[in-house]
Amino acid sequence: MSGKTMWAVAAVVALAGVGILAARKIGSAPEQSRKPWPDVEEKRIMSVLDQMLSGPHSDILSVPPDDGKVLRLLAEATGARNIVEIGTSNGYAALWFCAALRTTGGKLTTFEIDPERVLLALENFERAGVTRLVKVVQGDAHKTVANLKEPIDIVFLDADKGGNLDYLNKLLPLVREGGLILAHDTTDSASRMQDYLKAVTTNPALETIFLHEQGPGIGVTLKKHQIK
Ligand SMILES: C[S@@+](CC[C@H](N)C(=O)[O-])C[C@H]1O[C@@H](n2cnc3c(N)ncnc32)[C@H](O)[C@@H]1O
Repeated sequence: MSGKTMWAVAAVVALAGVGILAARKIGSAPEQSRKPWPDVEEKRIMSVLDQMLSGPHSDILSVPPDDGKVLRLLAEATGARNIVEIGTSNGYAALWFCAALRTTGGKLTTFEIDPERVLLALENFERAGVTRLVKVVQGDAHKTVANLKEPIDIVFLDADKGGNLDYLNKLLPLVREGGLILAHDTTDSASRMQDYLKAVTTNPALETIFLHEQGPGIGVTLKKHQIK
């Protein structure tokens, strides 16, 4: 990450962390772990992530490793407990979130329309030992997200790019104050999500920055206030 990117991430993490912790009324830092690091479970997740880059389905489009690291860092640094991903594919990005959720004690709900990809993702979650952390919902996420009811700490949009505004409109009311909406491919697919980009950069209740713009791009939007 460049110095500029690191400062931007640090600022978002600080704001989001304060918001999420305040929402939960938690005043003290989590207990420091004395276990050796990386532990067996971390190594198992990282090994599956490595294999996914070179295995038989490595041609499936996922976030690049550097973007996966950003997702994990944001989730872990903000103590995210409830993460929603739109567009599971084979579960690559989901595994990065799972690496964070082991620490935060949270869960991921991830949505995928393609049944074959759902099966691939479930296999990868099994191999990585994270099935307890993740639930896959099969079907058109534009419809299935209607079943979500709990407050969300992080939304990650990475499915049909032209659908991002619809996902935003449906999920924003559930996002906590201090929660994050992350969108992948904000550089590469900007032309397909102009309405989304306008919404997250003009709404006064939201603060948006763009990371890794030299790559596919990640939009990081902080929900600063509850929207009436
Ligand atoms: C770029 S891939 C997701 C990559 C994944 N987030 C990762 O980095 O590992 C996009 C996925 O969104 C799925 N998708 C497209 N439209 C969808 C919809 N309406 N509902 C749910 N999933 C959808 C596709 O089948 C595809 O697997």
